[in-house]
Amino acid sequence: MATFKDKLKLIESEGYLRKRDVISLTTSSHTQIRDKTVTSFSSNDYLGMSTHRDVISELKKSASQYGIGTGSSPLITGYTQSHQYLEKEICEYLDTESCIVLNSGYMANLCLLSIYDKEVNVIQDKESHNSIIESSKLNKIKINRYSHLDDSQITKHISKDNDILFSEAVFSMTGDMTNLKNHLNIKRKFNTQLYIDDAHGFAIAQKSSNNTTIETSCELFGMKPSDADAYMGTFGKAVGTIGAFICGNKDLIEMIIQKGRPYIYSTSQPRCMIDATRKSLNILSLDKSRYKKLHENITYFNDACKIKKIPTNLNQVPIKTILLGNPHLALKVKELLLEKKILIQAIRYPTVPKNNDKIRITLTSDHNKKDIDNLLNTLENVICEKYT
Ligand SMILES: Cc1ncc(COP(=O)(O)O)c(C=O)c1O
Repeated sequence: MATFKDKLKLIESEGYLRKRDVISLTTSSHTQIRDKTVTSFSSNDYLGMSTHRDVISELKKSASQYGIGTGSSPLITGYTQSHQYLEKEICEYLDTESCIVLNSGYMANLCLLSIYDKEVNVIQDKESHNSIIESSKLNKIKINRYSHLDDSQITKHISKDNDILFSEAVFSMTGDMTNLKNHLNIKRKFNTQLYIDDAHGFAIAQKSSNNTTIETSCELFGMKPSDADAYMGTFGKAVGTIGAFICGNKDLIEMIIQKGRPYIYSTSQPRCMIDATRKSLNILSLDKSRYKKLHENITYFNDACKIKKIPTNLNQVPIKTILLGNPHLALKVKELLLEKKILIQAIRYPTVPKNNDKIRITLTSDHNKKDIDNLLNTLENVICEKYT
């Protein structure tokens, strides 16, 4: 049997070895890494809320009042008034019947499918986030996967009422978007359930002008979170804290409390973090300036990519990727940019399918035009001229 050492050597030689860089000071747009201060295009803190003064003050205030740990899972003593308020507030923001707050988006997706004890069919895009894939491996779940974004294959996988179409609204590793309106039509026509993972759309997806609540990608697709059977959003990205929520009807949320093992058997989030999340959401619901700045940055980036012919997706989302198709090349481009004090990520198999290795750029509201120009000029030189 191959030893761990042998296996690790093989992973390294194939270009797939993962390493953790130690980060010292960081904001959503600047980071200290390997003793250098660099412009970061790697954070999902899209609105810079993780360093918002008022959010930090709220966390400190709550920690001084209630301490920093809940000491147990939500079904013991870990469900505080702040957790309850946050669930109520999310229902109000999104106009949904019921909500449950969980420790992470990964946990939320695991919970969603751990409530089934009868055989159930789940239909999902082949490039779904790992948490959707792993959650589908629980229990007696039959996974049916269709080619990336090819909705025409969905209906042939539907075998009975209540099959679950589990859709990622904005794909974390490509910035591609699911046509949720179409998925909603499929749900209505074939009586399937629709579960939406909106980790990268919640609170930032472009909205219609008359929306007055926290923006959602559902709005972008002309639907509401309550049209879905389950709508999942995370706090670790645009909200700048940590955790996640699921909205649905009362019965679905009650089933998660009864059967969602990752929820039942894990210590709940600290109350001070929940209060920080509440504060962040409150600020985002009132002040649209960060949201507007982010979208200005996305438009600026997209327009420049068109002119410079940089091959990336032009969706109105902050996730931009450039396909390189080779893990060694993806790492090399990352290092070349780091030499120029720009941090982007090399995304390799198995996070993406083999030969889909790429670099991933995330834009935030904290970037300015100079940061983006510098990134684009460097990308143009490093990638367009040398490697594509
Ligand atoms: C699409 C998607 N779903 C779920 C998650 C998990 O969320 P969390 O980081 O809160 O565990 C992520 C995280 O990157 C994601 O991209």
